[in-house]
Amino acid sequence: MVASVLIGGCSNEKKPPQQQADASGPYVIGLGEIMGLTQMRHAKLWFAGQANNWPLAAYELDELKEGFDDAVRYHPHHKSVPRPLTTMIPQFVGEPIAEIDTAIKTRDRTRFVAAFDRLTAGCNACHEEASFGFNVVKRPTVPPYSNQSFTPAARSGA
Ligand code: HEC
Repeated sequence: MVASVLIGGCSNEKKPPQQQADASGPYVIGLGEIMGLTQMRHAKLWFAGQANNWPLAAYELDELKEGFDDAVRYHPHHKSVPRPLTTMIPQFVGEPIAEIDTAIKTRDRTRFVAAFDRLTAGCNACHEEASFGFNVVKRPTVPPYSNQSFTPAARSGA
């Protein structure tokens, strides 16, 4: 994975200034690292929704979106991925993310669950096309961290 955290791993022509450095330049997060964080957000989002903790769900969804924004920005082209991420990411996860956003705003858990499953299907469809279909994402069954409560804090009044 070391190579993928270095800017040299990207093949995009027009790079933003922070991508123009070589291996000795500033650190740029690799796509695999962004995806690892995305996996964590995906799990936390699920448990927040299950606990009707809508402020936390909104936060996790926002972080998930930022991760995809970073993926598009720093890795518009990626080895073994056939099409630009600028196209693939909106295509596979744009609509489910918008739908989850609406479910959170309307505090609609049924809608949230359906949209979450569509998001997960989008993750997997993109992995398939990116020759990464061996990495299968699914609904989580166990909260990823034991030191975080997913139920709404009493103080928040939620
Ligand atoms: C561009 C389409 C695309 C979308 C959409 C996408 N992924 Fe990925 N994902 C990739 C690619 C490409 C890699 C391999 C990156 C690498 O390491 O080079 C990857 C890698 C991963 C990994 C492996 C990271 C590791 O270190 O083990 C996980 C986990 C992952 N994705 C989760 C997700 C989740 C969860 C979603 C949806 C919320 C998602 N991905 C959506 C393309 C995508």
